[in-house]
Amino acid sequence: MQFPLKVTEERTSTVCSGETAWKDFIVIASKIQEHSGNSFILVDENTEKYCLPVFLSMTPGMAKFEVLRIKPGESSKSKETAAFLWDQLAAKGADRTSLLVNLGGGVVCDVGAFVASTFKRGIPCINIPTTLIAMTDAAIGGKTAINLNSVKNTIGTFYLPEATIIFPGFLKTLDQSEIRSGLAEIFKIGLVADRSFWEFLQRIKPGGLAEISSGDPFWEEVIQRAALLKCTVVEKDFYDRGARAILNFGHTFGHAFETLSHYPGHLPVSHGMAVAQGIICACFLSQRLSGLNEKEVPKIVELFLSVFGSMPVNETDIPEIIRLMEQDKKIREGIINFTLIRAPGEAVTGRTCSKDDIYDSLLFYMVVGRDYHSHEGH
Ligand SMILES: NC(=O)c1ccc[n+]([C@@H]2O[C@H](COP(=O)([O-])OP(=O)(O)OC[C@H]3O[C@@H](n4cnc5c(N)ncnc54)[C@H](O)[C@@H]3O)[C@@H](O)[C@H]2O)c1
Repeated sequence: MQFPLKVTEERTSTVCSGETAWKDFIVIASKIQEHSGNSFILVDENTEKYCLPVFLSMTPGMAKFEVLRIKPGESSKSKETAAFLWDQLAAKGADRTSLLVNLGGGVVCDVGAFVASTFKRGIPCINIPTTLIAMTDAAIGGKTAINLNSVKNTIGTFYLPEATIIFPGFLKTLDQSEIRSGLAEIFKIGLVADRSFWEFLQRIKPGGLAEISSGDPFWEEVIQRAALLKCTVVEKDFYDRGARAILNFGHTFGHAFETLSHYPGHLPVSHGMAVAQGIICACFLSQRLSGLNEKEVPKIVELFLSVFGSMPVNETDIPEIIRLMEQDKKIREGIINFTLIRAPGEAVTGRTCSKDDIYDSLLFYMVVGRDYHSHEGH
């Protein structure tokens, strides 16, 4: 299946998934290669080991790709890695027509597409995401980024890849914790953009995540629908000036939880896990401030806790969480803007609230998390 992501008349990207995705890749890449000197494939050490052999077996007979390799992990979203890749491309004779394929998770896609967008003022690139987050979020929508001195996504561009190729088979080798992390963003897009998708997701059983890479049609549909929803949101607001803010649902709380989890005495949690906890808080705020029906909140909370569990948070942590939220980059003139929901599938952006509201949301989170742990005997 192919769906176009069209941001202007001239700027379109194609998102390909399902059985024909590799054929689509071969057609799209070969067309670029007809006019191109040489082609490159960017991997990290893990995707080189687990995904490159799959890529090569799925694309027989194609012109050779030179491999560019970076270290796995967030630390590779750096100016040093970008400079290393610019140097490599230059040394290997890349020109404006060269193709760069980004084979990896959000890190490889973010830094690879950033390098593609800046090398010789922009060379064609194709994203082949290998994590759940990248398949449904990071590899779609044209936001590229590197971090500056550990501050996330400080440097970046808006640059559409020629295509994004989604092949869930890559998830076979991905850690369950990474899969769970990706699932949080999938739940989020259902909650902010499509009630029927949100209801479809209710079929997910916490113990059933292992089936995600087995070619199970349910999971293929989950991934495809989440990717399509991301395209729909991006088409409305490619440059992130308004409508795209619905994707921030749960993130202001989530970023603070994520940072807190790295403090001494806390257990580090993944981005997705922190976002899942943030969504619980944002649902409480949504009931109070944007009319979310009180019957919906326990259903959402229950699903999130059963799939993601909860982070231990004490009341003494709350002032620090609020301080961290006040530092979030989305804050303008000291006012925190929240994305909330009116109902599953209906987001409202730009909602402000008092410190007491935030405090109460965190207290609510603390209590429901604690109750869940004591009932489940965790
Ligand atoms: N540009 C966007 O719109 C956007 C959206 C969401 C997230 N992001 C960015 O995405 C990044 C997070 O992405 P991520 O969660 O994919 O992280 P990641 O790219 O670091 O991948 C997670 C880990 O899994 C490994 N891996 C990847 N695919 C694998 C596979 N198939 N089998 C085994 N191991 C594999 C990687 O080597 C890495 O160690 C963050 O930097 C975030 O800012 C960007």
